[in-house]
Amino acid sequence: MASHLVGGTPVCLVGEPFAPFWAKLEGANPGGLKDRAALHIVERARARGELAPGAMIVESTSGTFGLGLALAGIVHGHPVTVVTDPGMEALVHRLLAAYGVRVETVTAPHPAGGWQRARLDRVAALLAEHPGAYCPRQYDNPDNVDAYAGLAAELVGQVGRVDVLVCSVGTGGHSAGITKALPRPVSLVGVDSVGSTIFGQPSRPRLMRGLGSSIHPHNVAHEAFDEVHWVAPHEAVWACRTLAATHFTTGGWSVGAVTVVASWLARTTPAGTRVVAVFPDGPARYHATIYDDGFCAEHGLLDRPPADEPDEIKSADEAEVVRWTRMVTR
Ligand SMILES: Cc1ncc(COP(=O)(O)O)c(C=O)c1O
Repeated sequence: MASHLVGGTPVCLVGEPFAPFWAKLEGANPGGLKDRAALHIVERARARGELAPGAMIVESTSGTFGLGLALAGIVHGHPVTVVTDPGMEALVHRLLAAYGVRVETVTAPHPAGGWQRARLDRVAALLAEHPGAYCPRQYDNPDNVDAYAGLAAELVGQVGRVDVLVCSVGTGGHSAGITKALPRPVSLVGVDSVGSTIFGQPSRPRLMRGLGSSIHPHNVAHEAFDEVHWVAPHEAVWACRTLAATHFTTGGWSVGAVTVVASWLARTTPAGTRVVAVFPDGPARYHATIYDDGFCAEHGLLDRPPADEPDEIKSADEAEVVRWTRMVTR
């Protein structure tokens, strides 16, 4: 059983051509970052009696949390159904099937709430059809936040002091949870996708998955963020491919996006500031997107490094952002 392999992930010091920062490599978990959240949520729900032995688990996910639930389902003996949309990569779809998960794909976005709303509506219908089924509600379940206390403790042991923590934001779980559990206050920097509405931008169709949202998850600890950056797909692609070619260590959209921001922070904060970024997963899932020349050429993502500095806005309604942009929130 792979549950004892969750956690205890390594850190890597990222260097040239980036300014130096520490990366916490959550891709080293059997599924990815969300193994921690899925196991913790399922264990807490069982302990509280909300999830009966053998009962079905139903959740909306773009992939990483589904892999974590697949693991938790096998470990604790629950059938798992995940609801996703056509953007889920074939590799993840097939892996989930191999792990015994039933995957339901919604076919049309909700007119206002996008794919995420359409997925959540389908989850609600499945829960109504299956009395006793349990939904982990990763977007607003506080256990999704508390699941990252262990990651915070690992970081302290590995890098000592954390001055600046850089996290991608989807449900808001890991940014809120790590910050809360670190022993001293950090400067928290959130990284979102252009076209995501989490920090007040208009919701648009997005190429980048994992980070970003077309709804407002309750787990996002808005008051904890010192600044927020939005990153565009071409900037994340450049960072992912550069990481791959120079460090071998790389990952998906959120890895590329946090790298753009963490490197800039490491370059612009006072010498000695310890910048730590969370890398949620590894590269395999993105072989047909970020690492595919045809896909990248078709979407205009090739050889377009980020600018030296982000654009700056003072409030989210000042402008609709289309490239790397920073907003200081306090
Ligand atoms: C690959 C990836 N990166 C980043 C995130 C964002 O993490 P969180 O939901 O903890 O905000 C997710 C969430 O699903 C993800 O799957």
